[in-house]
Amino acid sequence: MKKNLSILSSIFLASSVLMAGCIKSEEDMAASNKATKEDDGKTVIGFSVGTTKEERWQREVEMAKDFAKKNDFDLMVQSAEEDASKQVKQVEDMITKGIDVLLISAQDSESAGTVIDVAHEAGVPVIAYDRLVRNGDLDYYVTFDTFKVGQLQAQSLVEKYPKGKYIWLLGGPEDFNAHLIKKGHESILNPLIKKGDIKIVAQQWAKGWSPEEALKHTENGLTAADNDVVAVLASNDGTAGGAVQALAAQGLAGKVGVSGQDAALEGVQRVAEGTQTSTVYKPLKELNTVAMKLALSLAEGDEEAAKAKVNGKTDNGTKEVPSVLIDVQTITKENMMDTIIKDEFHKMDDVYKNVPKSEWPKQ
Ligand code: BGC
Repeated sequence: MKKNLSILSSIFLASSVLMAGCIKSEEDMAASNKATKEDDGKTVIGFSVGTTKEERWQREVEMAKDFAKKNDFDLMVQSAEEDASKQVKQVEDMITKGIDVLLISAQDSESAGTVIDVAHEAGVPVIAYDRLVRNGDLDYYVTFDTFKVGQLQAQSLVEKYPKGKYIWLLGGPEDFNAHLIKKGHESILNPLIKKGDIKIVAQQWAKGWSPEEALKHTENGLTAADNDVVAVLASNDGTAGGAVQALAAQGLAGKVGVSGQDAALEGVQRVAEGTQTSTVYKPLKELNTVAMKLALSLAEGDEEAAKAKVNGKTDNGTKEVPSVLIDVQTITKENMMDTIIKDEFHKMDDVYKNVPKSEWPKQ
């Protein structure tokens, strides 16, 4: 609907914008934007993701595109590929081109706050998508219960490994979610650490949620403890992958507990094989659909419909942001069939690919 194309924005046309359809190369994108920017009177939603490194973000971009197609609005998608300043620039470009609402999953929760004012000056409401934007007049936040994600990760390990030495792997320090997860971990671990049942031999952040960093931290933790470790509290499936690789090199994969989150295919495969204790299932489709519907309500100026979706508040350092919080669930070998497979989040053949057929659970 917003079509304030300026000379400036025509320069931006050459930048990396992915319009609804498929993800294209930079050259293709420049061409496709020229082709699609005629004013068709349709609502335009901007969706900016900080990264598409993890499988979940790739799936969510596809879900958003499907939703846009089915609901007949235009979607501008951009991924900053882990570059926080690139994300700010990409969002400014989208606003210049003309979007009605911005959905943003921030690469850096603190620095992303600067785009809120730019968006508001152009009359564009901002919804934080799964990752909080801190320090700004954010309009809405649609997210999973991230504190609970941390609790479930720690809970799944302490149930199986109530005593012993732990390696504690945190996510990307630039992402506020990693801090919420840490708080969730602490709520379960701290009493056990105080009691002397659990001892932390290493606690490290993995910048950008890097599996490579997680691998190194696990190697170092194992060395420091002379391999006497009962569990690795990993903050997502990517970092869990790094941890399992380090454990495997010491012949410890499957013997030491490992947590995760996202129910990424590699994560649930490891759970099925027994090298990862648990992951946390986050219903991505639900998150994506709620976020898109909220964005549409705001684009239509229907504040009442938007408010009706809210079920909580989140302090982002500036205000209590009206939030939609979606519940999450622990996945283990035991409930894989009733959750991931039943919900068709992944196919059975894929999840159990590395498990001998004779050991597959009954369908
Ligand atoms: C998300 C996780 C994801 C991680 C790395 C976090 O903000 O909540 O689901 O694994 O980012 O992309």
